[in-house]
Amino acid sequence: MWTPTSMKAALHSLFLFFITLSASHHSSSSCPLHHKQALLQFKSMLSTYHADNSSSLTELKSWNSSSANCCTWARVNCSLWLPLKLVTELHLSSIAHGDGYISSEVLVPLFCIESLLVLDISKNSLQGRIPGDELCNLTSLSYLNMRQNYRINGSIPSQIFSMKSLRHLDLSSNSLFGTIPSEIGKLSKLQSLSLVSNNFEGGIPTSISELSELQELDLGINSLSGSIPYLREMSKLEILVFYENNLSGEIPIWLFDLGNLQQLFLDGNNLSWNNAAEISPKCNLFVLSLGSCGMSGKIPNWLSQQKNLVILNLPKNKLSGGIPPWICKLELQMIDLSYNNLAGQLPSCVLKSESLLSIQLSGNSLSGELPTNISNATTILSLELNSNNFSGELPESILSIASLGLLDLSNNKLSGEIFTKFRIKSSLNFLNLSFNSFSDKLPISFGNSIETIILNNNNISGKLFMNFSSMTTLKILDLHNNRITSNIPYSLGSLTSLNILNLRSNHIHGLIPDSLANLAVLSIIDLSNNKLHGYIPPNLTNLRGMMGEAGADSIFYVAEQNDAVINWKGSPQALADTDIMMYPFLDLSNNKYIGQLEDLESLDLSHNKLSGEIPKSFGKLRDLTKLDLSNNMLTGRIPKGSQISTLDDVSGYANNSGLCGIQINVQCVSAAAPFDVLPRGLNDEEGNEDEWLTLEALCLGYVFGLAWALGLAYYGIVRPNLAQCAFYHRRRQHHNFHHNWISGFFLAVEKDNFSCSSQCNFF
Ligand SMILES: *[C@@H]1O[C@H](CO)[C@@H](O)[C@H](O)[C@H]1NC(C)=O
Ligand SMILES: *[C@@H]1O[C@H](CO)[C@@H](O)[C@H](O)[C@H]1NC(C)=O
Ligand SMILES: *[C@@H]1O[C@H](CO)[C@@H](O)[C@H](O)[C@H]1NC(C)=O
Ligand SMILES: *[C@@H]1O[C@H](CO)[C@@H](O)[C@H](O)[C@H]1NC(C)=O
Ligand SMILES: *[C@@H]1O[C@H](CO)[C@@H](O)[C@H](O)[C@H]1NC(C)=O
Ligand SMILES: *[C@@H]1O[C@H](CO)[C@@H](O)[C@H](O)[C@H]1NC(C)=O
Ligand SMILES: *[C@@H]1O[C@H](CO)[C@@H](O)[C@H](O)[C@H]1NC(C)=O
Ligand SMILES: *[C@@H]1O[C@H](CO)[C@@H](O)[C@H](O)[C@H]1NC(C)=O
Ligand SMILES: *[C@@H]1O[C@H](CO)[C@@H](O)[C@H](O)[C@H]1NC(C)=O
Ligand SMILES: *[C@@H]1O[C@H](CO)[C@@H](O)[C@H](O)[C@H]1NC(C)=O
Ligand SMILES: *[C@@H]1O[C@H](CO)[C@@H](O)[C@H](O)[C@H]1NC(C)=O
Ligand SMILES: *[C@@H]1O[C@H](CO)[C@@H](O)[C@H](O)[C@H]1NC(C)=O
Repeated sequence: MWTPTSMKAALHSLFLFFITLSASHHSSSSCPLHHKQALLQFKSMLSTYHADNSSSLTELKSWNSSSANCCTWARVNCSLWLPLKLVTELHLSSIAHGDGYISSEVLVPLFCIESLLVLDISKNSLQGRIPGDELCNLTSLSYLNMRQNYRINGSIPSQIFSMKSLRHLDLSSNSLFGTIPSEIGKLSKLQSLSLVSNNFEGGIPTSISELSELQELDLGINSLSGSIPYLREMSKLEILVFYENNLSGEIPIWLFDLGNLQQLFLDGNNLSWNNAAEISPKCNLFVLSLGSCGMSGKIPNWLSQQKNLVILNLPKNKLSGGIPPWICKLELQMIDLSYNNLAGQLPSCVLKSESLLSIQLSGNSLSGELPTNISNATTILSLELNSNNFSGELPESILSIASLGLLDLSNNKLSGEIFTKFRIKSSLNFLNLSFNSFSDKLPISFGNSIETIILNNNNISGKLFMNFSSMTTLKILDLHNNRITSNIPYSLGSLTSLNILNLRSNHIHGLIPDSLANLAVLSIIDLSNNKLHGYIPPNLTNLRGMMGEAGADSIFYVAEQNDAVINWKGSPQALADTDIMMYPFLDLSNNKYIGQLEDLESLDLSHNKLSGEIPKSFGKLRDLTKLDLSNNMLTGRIPKGSQISTLDDVSGYANNSGLCGIQINVQCVSAAAPFDVLPRGLNDEEGNEDEWLTLEALCLGYVFGLAWALGLAYYGIVRPNLAQCAFYHRRRQHHNFHHNWISGFFLAVEKDNFSCSSQCNFF
């Protein structure tokens, strides 16, 4: 977000007057005692919130009762108001950082310093209402800044409206609520008003138009409704920010007659645009941001005359036609025309601009090839052309933009082999080229700054050999649905920042290297649908990132991360980026499994080669709401139980070799199962040792004989079989057995290579 500087300039001129009077370094007179006391009282109230951490008030170290003149204290400014010297400015931003929230009551002593002109108490974790009654004494106050305390709440106290000298009022980023009182119109000297990011509702009072000195009006990110009030008399208005509210009605075209208007932000309301209006603007805009404003037709032509325009944001409208070439004549730094209906080619001049910092054209129907030589666009930080119809090769010159940090060309028809030309020195941080037709091999590196590599759903072939040890910042590596053939290199274990690893559905073979245990912050791993085999490295349980809150020592887990969707309980659930680390782990090693896995809610064992009976212990799964055992070779009676008896979706049992039971409405001919070798006692809560031993033998053979894929992810499946083996292992440890073949870790089994009899899989 662009930060205005006009306020600073205005403030500067405002205080020129006082600076000339300021005499703190000439006079030996000290501040009035009651000012000093008020400041000390403020400090002492603040300290009660920092009792065990005096270091967090280091900024106020000079506020010492034995130091007589409070004008010499840090963040305090005095002015000579002959014959006295009075405290006039308190610059107290970010003094109380770190330790939780502080009651807004600490402000009361400050509000007694009636000579104050400037009070900046921003960014101090204050909470609670603004103490209004005390405010009334600050009749000279000209600048009041309480922004970014986040939890200052209540409504705006009416006393604020009697502070007739106020020129700058900033209450943004708090939790204030209620309506904006119409008394706001009394603050006739106001030059800037920012209430952005609070919970204000109701209409914008029409009295606001009486603020004839106002240059900046920022009411964004609230719940304001109604229409845009008449502001036409506000001839000094430069910045108008109403975005992210609930305003409705037509955007008045007289806004463009406000001769000083430079920045207009109206995105994210319920406003409409008169597409037929003829606009001949009197303003010279610097920023125009009209996302979701119901614009349709072509990108308006009058914009071509806005020669100062630097930021043009018109996303999520219904603009159609092509991108006009005149856009190149403006010296735009940011262009956002994403999610419109724009078609045609991208004029090659657009990417040649020497001023461009960011361009977003995602979600249109742009087609054709990307301009081949964009080497003049040396300043681009972010290039998002995803979800269009671009085809042809990815121009090599894109890779020579040294500043490029974000490149999203996903979901197009791009092809070619340029990966090898990625430069180690590039500053690329985020790369999404998924859903294209790149058929290249992986490069040695995508640069030393890379954090996200998303290349799924291409035709990438060759080996998984990159210089992983140079990619220490990498957090997400998603290569699923490609044609990578090779084993997982040991060096993958050097990706120490990796959160998400998705190699699903490739042709990866070989063993799972035990170096993966070094991926300390890994939270999602999906290696399913490959050709991995062998057994599971014993120390994989060291994956700290995969541990549940309770610190249980193994995990399992389920994600279709590339799409930020998790298949959970059989249906896709959206997963916000920020939630990734909070997503609940499914821990299957925590001692109790089927029979004790009573909290299990979703179980999908479909598309394997499971045979034998469904274990009777399934009847004990009280929370099971989704069960899919289809496409196996299971036989015999489907167990009964309070919950499983209700799971009568026939498709969950379909395509097996002879199941019967009430759930599928097939009567069982014989009560005896054809393949009934389940060791006795396994359905009991406490199996006896000898039987566990038998079971161990079974499991052991089973583990060595099968191919595995790590990570269940994809199907949202819980497969208790190995977990069971893991449990088993613990019991074994308990009894001091020698082998140590699996260590409480649980894996998914590759879809097509899974064959084992049920007595091994589920007990
Ligand atoms: C003390 O304050 C410092 C700096 O604000 C902070 O990093 C630290 O966590 C605090 N310690 C305690 C015990 O609150
Ligand atoms: C206040 O200042 C006096 C003398 O200048 C000093 O002795 C004392 O330690 C200071 N107190 C604090 C809390 O810093
Ligand atoms: C306020 O005081 C600080 C020193 O404490 C000084 O650097 C600053 O220039 C003063 N500001 C004004 C406006 O006098
Ligand atoms: C405000 O000023 C009035 C008189 O001017 C005084 O009686 C009152 O105590 C003051 N309030 C505070 C909080 O200092
Ligand atoms: C205002 O904040 C205080 C302190 O956080 C809280 O106790 C109070 O419930 C809040 N009031 C409202 C109406 O949200
Ligand atoms: C938005 O405003 C409309 C009236 O224009 C109102 O019906 C609706 O409840 C408001 N929505 C929110 C989320 O405030
Ligand atoms: C948007 O405004 C229209 C009328 O202009 C109204 O019918 C609709 O409910 C509003 N939508 C929202 C989300 O408030
Ligand atoms: C994308 O291009 C193909 C031809 O390459 C064309 O058939 C298709 O209609 C285009 N899709 C869109 C949405 O423009
Ligand atoms: C780069 O800019 C120079 C000077 O403006 C121009 O002559 C040249 O053709 C441009 N190169 C490309 C590839 O657009
Ligand atoms: C791109 O154009 C520049 C001139 O602006 C030229 O120096 C460079 O060689 C060209 N690169 C390619 C790959 O054509
Ligand atoms: C990558 O691109 C695909 C296709 O456009 C999209 O679905 C996915 O959300 C993107 N991933 C990220 C992390 O942006
Ligand atoms: C896991 O074992 C391998 C080889 O035995 C070792 O190199 C690696 O450091 C171990 N990792 C952890 C986290 O214990």
